[in-house]
Amino acid sequence: MSDIAEIKIDGKVYEFPIITGTEGEKSIDISKLRELTGHITLDLGYKNTGSTKSAITFLDGEKGILKYRGYPIEQLAEKSNFLEVAYLLIYGDLPTEEQIVTFQSKITKQTLIHEDMKKFLDGYPSRAHPMAQLASLVCSLSSFYPESINANSSPEAMDHTIIKLLAKLPTIVSFIYKKGLGHPLIYPKNKFDYVSNYLHMTFGQRTEEVEIDPVVVKAMNTLLILHADHEQNCSASTVRMVGSSDCNLFASVSAGIDALWGPLHGGANQAVIEMLETIKEDGGDTEKWINKAKDKNDPFRMMGFGHRVYKNFDPRAKIIKKACDDILDKLGINDPVLEIAKKLEEAALSDPYFVERKLYPNVDFYSGIIYRALGFPTDMFTVLFALGRLPGWIAQWKEMHTNKEPIGRPRQVYVGHTNREFVEIEQR
Ligand code: SDX
Repeated sequence: MSDIAEIKIDGKVYEFPIITGTEGEKSIDISKLRELTGHITLDLGYKNTGSTKSAITFLDGEKGILKYRGYPIEQLAEKSNFLEVAYLLIYGDLPTEEQIVTFQSKITKQTLIHEDMKKFLDGYPSRAHPMAQLASLVCSLSSFYPESINANSSPEAMDHTIIKLLAKLPTIVSFIYKKGLGHPLIYPKNKFDYVSNYLHMTFGQRTEEVEIDPVVVKAMNTLLILHADHEQNCSASTVRMVGSSDCNLFASVSAGIDALWGPLHGGANQAVIEMLETIKEDGGDTEKWINKAKDKNDPFRMMGFGHRVYKNFDPRAKIIKKACDDILDKLGINDPVLEIAKKLEEAALSDPYFVERKLYPNVDFYSGIIYRALGFPTDMFTVLFALGRLPGWIAQWKEMHTNKEPIGRPRQVYVGHTNREFVEIEQR
């Protein structure tokens, strides 16, 4: 098979190299396209455009394959834990016993946030969306750790910043949650592992230390692993874009949090539960809502369905759907919206509209049902997505800096006015 692509413009043939990835996917390197031809490409939403070469995550949307650093997501979700997967994504290999103990120890020492950061929480109205608070608090870390602002510092300094962010995010997330409830903040305890500490800070009480259910710990580890990275999705691309200007990690991740908030992206897990609740309140007529999703004149979309890359089942959705049944069963919870979700999925997967467009349940379709079963309010769901995605964002930002990639600056096709003379306001 040729490793050259030819483009013919006005009778002249131009050659461009074909780059083949380690999993066999093909790309045409157009780095010199404008220089050679005076043309640029146009690809709204970058549906066909690769922005980088990455060794972090591989997914095959046609086959429903997802791997972190070569390890299948199914194996990691079943056999690993979130901190180990975070290490894998950021440093490239599964840690040895000594490495994970050191990693956990470094994180344990950094779980507190500056007491002055609590003043930001006092400034928000009680129903402020947690994602708004999360984005600003994460960016504010750069004010308390100014040494982290230099994105091109030494590898040791970069790693110190990475540890700080990994360690402090669970504390920030639980403080936002507790403040929203008007409850006292619960501080981290060094005896807990990463996920247990988060659950302790979230569900613990000032008056007593609540027992942390191992079922809940396992469920949270699984959910966080499944959300840990997803190659060049909207929020990861945002982190890379902002980071490409040599912006610090805290501000780059803060931008990623904002991108994730959108209901077409990470905000879908909140939108799915709101959709299921609406359908339940409306009498549970799934057929009616399937038809609304198909109606081009109706703004309603089946949230949690469809994906830019997966044109087969999202492998994460399969794992989460099974976990959903297991966890609700173990916790003895019967959530009526689960039945509505299953009816919707069954109806959609046999409906030509969804089948022709290869619209399947994605990671967000069932995750909210588990989060709700674990006791989280709906507006915290996307924050939990961010908690899981943090190692992926960090790995993407670190890879971009390590590879010294150029500042991101796409081109455009200008379609505005060509030339106009200024007219004084009296003559307009
Ligand atoms: C995440 O990229 C990632 O990797 C993201 C993510 C990650 O881990 O980072 O996987 C996390 O964001 C998952 C996706 C969560 N979002 C949702 O569940 C929102 C609902 N889904 C859609 O809005 C949509 O499917 C997107 C945004 C996910 C993908 O949109 P695309 O790739 O731009 O596809 P499209 O909008 O061009 O849709 C193609 C067709 C259109 O119909 P036609 O114009 O061809 O007739 O499919 C239709 C769309 O109208 N369609 C839907 C639909 N999704 C697509 N119709 C009804 N309901 C839907 N959910």
